[in-house]
Amino acid sequence: MEIRQLGYVGVQGPDPKAWLDFATRVCGLMPARVVPGEAWGMPGLPGDGPAAGGSGIAADGSVFLKMDEWQWRVAFHPGAAPGLRYLGLEVRGPAELAAAEAELAARGLAVARATAEELEARAVHGMVHLRDPAGQRVELFHGVTRDRNFSSPAGVPGFVTGSLGLGHVVLLVPDLDAALAFYCGALGFRLSDYVTFGPGQGVWFLHCNPRHHSIALFGAGGAHKRINHFMLECNSLDDVGSARDIARRQGTPIVIDLGRHMNDHMVSFYVANPSQFAIEYGWGGRTIDDACWQVGRYDSVESIWGHPELTELAAQMARTIAAAGN
Ligand code: FE2
Repeated sequence: MEIRQLGYVGVQGPDPKAWLDFATRVCGLMPARVVPGEAWGMPGLPGDGPAAGGSGIAADGSVFLKMDEWQWRVAFHPGAAPGLRYLGLEVRGPAELAAAEAELAARGLAVARATAEELEARAVHGMVHLRDPAGQRVELFHGVTRDRNFSSPAGVPGFVTGSLGLGHVVLLVPDLDAALAFYCGALGFRLSDYVTFGPGQGVWFLHCNPRHHSIALFGAGGAHKRINHFMLECNSLDDVGSARDIARRQGTPIVIDLGRHMNDHMVSFYVANPSQFAIEYGWGGRTIDDACWQVGRYDSVESIWGHPELTELAAQMARTIAAAGN
């Protein structure tokens, strides 16, 4: 099976307005036409549209956010428990989706075909969904809806997306072996490298295209929520610095300040979002050529420079896991 990219993510929480403000003002994402059905310009032909894009908040309280020519890539849905709701992984087309569905079913995984309503809700042509071993909803899809007019309210010129996907997501998993069997064994992700920082503790970084990792699995025992952060990549270091300035001016908590990661070389900072996890906002990540890539092992999360809070946060996590007996 070939997953081509992490195409979209859906998050949830209690406050759509807070998410819209955070995503547009700090991250520079653009309010998208809400899904399903909000049009602009002539039907089927996106025109100049309103300067800010779509209305921002759908009738049900959902917020759809745009970062390139895809209609949307990040969605927020109202929900009492803040966190991650679904991940969308792209396959090439209908034949590949059908093959993936058969392959997953043959492995004994409970995979369901999307209803017409579910397809409309994601604005995709085909989709199946299943749960990973931690219970996280994973969607395989093809046929995204595209439009144009990406224009960041915060002036961000654009993001590194295209065939590399929206960025990466780091999942907290209670059973690392089961998670690796699912994402690598069943879905075909490949190991980029891994970092260990305690017995049975670590983060495994997985790729499905040249982006260093689209998914990382953080062995975190059973007592944690399902997502640590997701990452958006800018085209310039200045965009990262400007976003950091905005976050600081607005008093949005910076969880981990600027630094450059040892493994993917991303220069980034981490900012708290209203769904109680973090967004990593970065630039300059290196890519992988599978023909010559060698899997690396790191024994510390320490960065090349910066990320001053990272080591202590990892140590705190390790202590929590150990105390929980995992
Ligand atoms: Fe990250």
